[in-house]
Amino acid sequence: MLLTDEAPALTRAIDPAFRRDILDGLSRSPKATPPIWFYDQRGSELFEAITNLPEYYPTRTETALLKTHGADFAAAVGKGRAVVEFGAGSARKTPHLLRAIAPAAYVPIDISGAFLQASSAELARGFPGLPVVPVVGDFNGPLDLPKAVDGLPRLGFFPGSTIGNMEPGAAVDLLRAMRRLLGRDAMLLIGMDRIKDRDRLVAAYDDAAGVTAAFNLNLIARINRELEGDLPIDGFAHRAIWNDDKARIEMHLEAVRPLHFHVAGQCFRMAAGETIHTESSHKYGARDERLLLRAGGWEPVGEWTDAEGLFSLVLAEAR
Ligand code: AVJ
Repeated sequence: MLLTDEAPALTRAIDPAFRRDILDGLSRSPKATPPIWFYDQRGSELFEAITNLPEYYPTRTETALLKTHGADFAAAVGKGRAVVEFGAGSARKTPHLLRAIAPAAYVPIDISGAFLQASSAELARGFPGLPVVPVVGDFNGPLDLPKAVDGLPRLGFFPGSTIGNMEPGAAVDLLRAMRRLLGRDAMLLIGMDRIKDRDRLVAAYDDAAGVTAAFNLNLIARINRELEGDLPIDGFAHRAIWNDDKARIEMHLEAVRPLHFHVAGQCFRMAAGETIHTESSHKYGARDERLLLRAGGWEPVGEWTDAEGLFSLVLAEAR
């Protein structure tokens, strides 16, 4: 059952938010752009390809955890919750959770309307009788839940270590916003990527087949196409760096020679070796995870990790 009470976002020739974020990011020193702009059609396809790479352990590890521990989740969260998924995307992992816990409704939230409609419809076919109420929107901004879930206890679902894209302060703000949105007696099941061997981390973001490089460089192609840019694709190289002080993988686009280019009528220069910092992916130790959740108003009540301790799913209660 697919209930739609939100209109899909309009597509525009030039997205003013994209223009603003890119011009701001390139004007800054050091240059840095927000990772949300990776995900155009091609970027979303490349990310799907990343999740299947031998080096990229997070997706398959988290999926295995969801498959294996269904009975534990069911015991801990009970039946009849409204599951609210943040950044649902293709919602590949969701069926494992829904099958285990017998929810009363499912609310996938995603910024990409077209993607969301398609994945919601597919999911609804797999769960006849389950109300599926997609919400098109940015979970980093103000949001309202649909009327259909009024009065139901909520379970937030935030898989994939997406929280890792945020600086710690922003991550805490987001957890608090989720707590407010989900209300009293809410629970949250969140995936977090663990700190581990440096080479393993770097390989996951600099794979041998070059798919992550293509994903990073696709941002250049998107800027050229959508913002009247003339950045030379061959002027940039993909870099993945482990920042140990901040416990994060950073992705950069490094100028391989001095560059001079334009975006939306503005002129930019880069020295050889200068970078655009395009993404941070923060990693957490077991105590870091719990500290972050507590700072965000959530008390951890359960935790599941694979045998190698690569990735963890944490269940928490609203406090
Ligand atoms: C979707 C943010 C979880 O940080 O691992 C994968 C994105 N970037 N490879 C991550 C990503 C490069 C991914 N997240």
